[in-house]
Amino acid sequence: MCDGRKRAQASGGGIECGCYTALKPARIRIPFGGKNRVRFLEEYKLGHETLDTQHQLLFGLIAELQSEIDTALGRAASTDVLQRLFMYAVVHFATEDELMMMSDYPDTLAHRAEHEAVLANVKRLEAECQAGVPSAREETLRFMKAWASGHVPGVDRGLVEHLAKRGRGAAR
Ligand SMILES: [Fe+2]
Ligand SMILES: [Fe+2]
Repeated sequence: MCDGRKRAQASGGGIECGCYTALKPARIRIPFGGKNRVRFLEEYKLGHETLDTQHQLLFGLIAELQSEIDTALGRAASTDVLQRLFMYAVVHFATEDELMMMSDYPDTLAHRAEHEAVLANVKRLEAECQAGVPSAREETLRFMKAWASGHVPGVDRGLVEHLAKRGRGAAR
């Protein structure tokens, strides 16, 4: 018996289930959903107005990617949301980079390296999507969900705490 929905919930992502191919030739997509949907949680708020606003926008773009995947039903979708996600990540990382440099943040290099790894990954996945690799958008979604939900309350919180100590924790 198909356990596709359980596996989808366990993995936190949408999957394609081929169990029904005897009934219908097309593969059936089981959408991401319920508690696994991307949303900006209270614990992601860091107390820095600019960064909190930018993080909410980033999560909004990830949620938009999720919606696009959920509703695409196997059709080739545009790479528009991936491009906007990449461009907004560039803007956001530049903001954090400026804050790190202005405040002599001691973990600047490590933090910057995480940002650069994200941009490289998203760029690669966007290229794969444009080349028609079927799993590219789902992989981007999984990657960005995992990264954002770990980086923001972890690494970014360290930066905001440092800014607060330096008297730059207030909204900018
Ligand atoms: Fe951030
Ligand atoms: Fe960051």
